[in-house]
Amino acid sequence: MIGFQSVSQDKTKKKIAVVPGDGIGKEVIAEAIKVVRATGAPVEFTEFDWGADRYLKDGTTIPVDGFAMLGRDFDAILVGALGDPRVPSNIHAKEILLGMRFKMDLYVNLRPVKLLDESLCPLKNMTPKDVDFVVVRENTEGPYVDVGSVEKQGTADEVARQEDYNTRKGVERIIRYAFEYARRHGRKKVLMTDKSNVMTYAGGLWQRTFREVAGEYSDLQAQHMYVDALCMHMVRDPRQFDVIVTNNMFGDIITDLAAGLQGGLGMAASGNIHPGRTSMFEPVHGSAPPFAGKNIANPIGAISTAAMMLEHLGLAREAERINQAVLAAVREKKTTQDIGGKLGTREAGDWIAGKV
Ligand code: NAD
Ligand code: IPM
Ligand code: MN
Repeated sequence: MIGFQSVSQDKTKKKIAVVPGDGIGKEVIAEAIKVVRATGAPVEFTEFDWGADRYLKDGTTIPVDGFAMLGRDFDAILVGALGDPRVPSNIHAKEILLGMRFKMDLYVNLRPVKLLDESLCPLKNMTPKDVDFVVVRENTEGPYVDVGSVEKQGTADEVARQEDYNTRKGVERIIRYAFEYARRHGRKKVLMTDKSNVMTYAGGLWQRTFREVAGEYSDLQAQHMYVDALCMHMVRDPRQFDVIVTNNMFGDIITDLAAGLQGGLGMAASGNIHPGRTSMFEPVHGSAPPFAGKNIANPIGAISTAAMMLEHLGLAREAERINQAVLAAVREKKTTQDIGGKLGTREAGDWIAGKV
């Protein structure tokens, strides 16, 4: 590991911890870093080798003081993806990725859904202004806390339970964040989606909290939709969405669906945020094992994620230059095959870096 000793004291630069991780994570993060460097942004990257290779070599997922070190020594964290078929338990991904989200209390998973060009949307006649919304996903609760039990495993009477854990504080802060975000970004509507018609306890808490918090934001329109119906509306007419707030699991699922509207998982960016603390940025996609090492993965999700990170760090000008270069790449089809281009991962990254 090169990380611990090499963080410099240069106060003029933002310190970024980089965890490329597994599979295509490594390839797309290399391009994201290349593009950030091309902007000349005052940042300094320190790479950590946490991921499946390291875990299989010496059993390390993340060092014991890893989370404290990240919070103390870095301004932000850039992650590729974690997940490898050689680690079927997925233990390293859980400890590193979910570890950061939970142990660093990164309670907001912000996933913007923006169509960059008409040609990328699988729906008919959708223009960039039609697909432009944000999912605010709760990031520290729900079934992800992994509380439950298995009884009589391996028998015909096996029973498995998985608890959906929701706290008033957790639900309230994410809903409040969604309303504040809407205000700050000039958005008009906040829609909460759940399955409160079935999950009455958790749903009841979300419903009550949403109504109460919405009451404080009379300048914004508050709406509710059951998540199954929302999936239908999202592919029928995504124009109606503005800010969507939801729990951890539904947020995970609907943002893969939403990525489909943007041209696929290779296009989607995200931030795992605790306002005022070291936050983590990662593309929405995973390690895509069948694509790994082939120079075919789309680096745009990771590059747009890096732009999100720069904006979060107050480097809005550099972020905007990256966003404009990505837009140009998409329009001129200087992209990977998944979105209609002919370039490899590295070549697509080179083109965007050159444009920047
Ligand atoms: P995945 O996102 O890795 O890939 C699903 C499919 O999406 C791919 O087969 C491919 O068709 C497409 N895709 C994804 N990224 C792409 C890119 N950059 N360019 C082009 N196409 C792309 O999801 P999966 O196959 O379900 O999961 C693989 C592994 O990744 C699993 O171990 C999973 O747990 C993990 N995962 C990790 C993260 C993360 O680290 N944040 C996120 C999702 C999945
Ligand atoms: C995501 C991923 C993760 C999640 C997995 C890899 C744990 O799917 O970031 O969307 O479920 O949150
Ligand atoms: Mn996911």
